[in-house]
Amino acid sequence: MLAPDPTTIFLTGGTGCLGTRLAESLAGDGHRIFLLVRPKTKRSAEAWLAGLRKRDEDLRARILLFEGDVDRPGVVASAPGQQRVASEATVLVHAAAITNLAADRASCERTNVQGTAHILEVARGMRGLTRLLHVSAGAVAGDAEGPFAEDELQRGQRFYNDYAETKNRAEELVRAARADLPTTIARPAHIVGDSQTGAIDRIDGVYYLVLLLLRMSKLPKPLRVLPVAPGGDVARMDLVPIDFVVDALKALAWHPDSVGGTFHLSDPLALTVRGLARVFARELDIAGPYFSIPGRPLAMVLRGGRTSDTLRTLMDQLFNLPPELADGLAHRAIYDSTQAQRLLTPLGLRAPHVEQYIGPLLDFARRRLL
Ligand SMILES: NC(=O)c1ccc[n+]([C@@H]2O[C@H](COP(=O)([O-])OP(=O)(O)OC[C@H]3O[C@@H](n4cnc5c(N)ncnc54)[C@H](OP(=O)(O)O)[C@@H]3O)[C@@H](O)[C@H]2O)c1
Repeated sequence: MLAPDPTTIFLTGGTGCLGTRLAESLAGDGHRIFLLVRPKTKRSAEAWLAGLRKRDEDLRARILLFEGDVDRPGVVASAPGQQRVASEATVLVHAAAITNLAADRASCERTNVQGTAHILEVARGMRGLTRLLHVSAGAVAGDAEGPFAEDELQRGQRFYNDYAETKNRAEELVRAARADLPTTIARPAHIVGDSQTGAIDRIDGVYYLVLLLLRMSKLPKPLRVLPVAPGGDVARMDLVPIDFVVDALKALAWHPDSVGGTFHLSDPLALTVRGLARVFARELDIAGPYFSIPGRPLAMVLRGGRTSDTLRTLMDQLFNLPPELADGLAHRAIYDSTQAQRLLTPLGLRAPHVEQYIGPLLDFARRRLL
């Protein structure tokens, strides 16, 4: 089960932060990847493949680019391409999404919801389909507070951005398709750098806090103080390193007991924003944080809500924080990962806690951000 026979995988989102790592890892396991690429991204995808060729020609040869767009029915642009997916691919991994938290509603709707509906149709046309692995997100919990079960999706929660709301609705579509498709849903928490190297292509979310603290760590010792952290001791930032997410996705795609299930890829010991700030601060020899303020006022400032322009400008100049950061202060759910742990722990897969990989994470961030 852990080393399934090489097969052909149709992968969407394979040009993104997570998908690139996943494609390389799957190809490294001997699988052939039909990688969906949008016309506008084709050139950079080819450059990435050329880089792979230099490292490993066999690996590169197992990744084939298929031009298309999940926004369109059929997804793959050419009829011969569609036929190859239908007849040769046996696993479909759907990781494509609009992930920019500032994206407009229409784009999120078109790609995350309609795109997933198109993917379900592609899956239905795949003659040898053994699994549709849908990459959802912990964000589907919206602002739900307290333990959030893997089987749970709707609790009357609110969403602070269209990304989270449309990912929730996409998941609803995949759940409805369980009746006729072998689906597995994975909900990664906030993905951060590799647990060994710290490397990641995408710098957002918690990295703004890391950047703030890295800058502070350059100050003379008496000034290295973070008095307060946002979040009021309820906002959570659940971090998972990208290598764990890739390994867990691969395991779930083939595990016989994951069919029809939903799995949180999260840290069972996830910290609040304040707790996380304390761990980073300690590592960087910064004092604090001593207090926590409720997240909502800061979120209002970051979003520019009913706050004065002066206050917002001051925040911009002091911290250069993007409005999207406010969304991190809205996550109060504790992702219950009982089902994921039940399947993954026996395979030796366990989400490491941030304190186990904080060194590589900060080293990479220092090189990349300062
Ligand atoms: N990063 C996280 O912390 C995190 C956490 C939980 C869940 N997730 C989920 O993991 C998945 C991958 O996230 P990521 O961080 O790797 O995001 P990303 O770097 O933004 O990658 C998004 C991918 O989706 C593709 N895509 C977007 N619109 C498309 C369309 N209309 N047709 C075809 N492909 C399209 C992008 O293609 P282009 O290269 O052409 O833009 C890219 O390959 C997403 O489903 C996301 O919701 C991510």
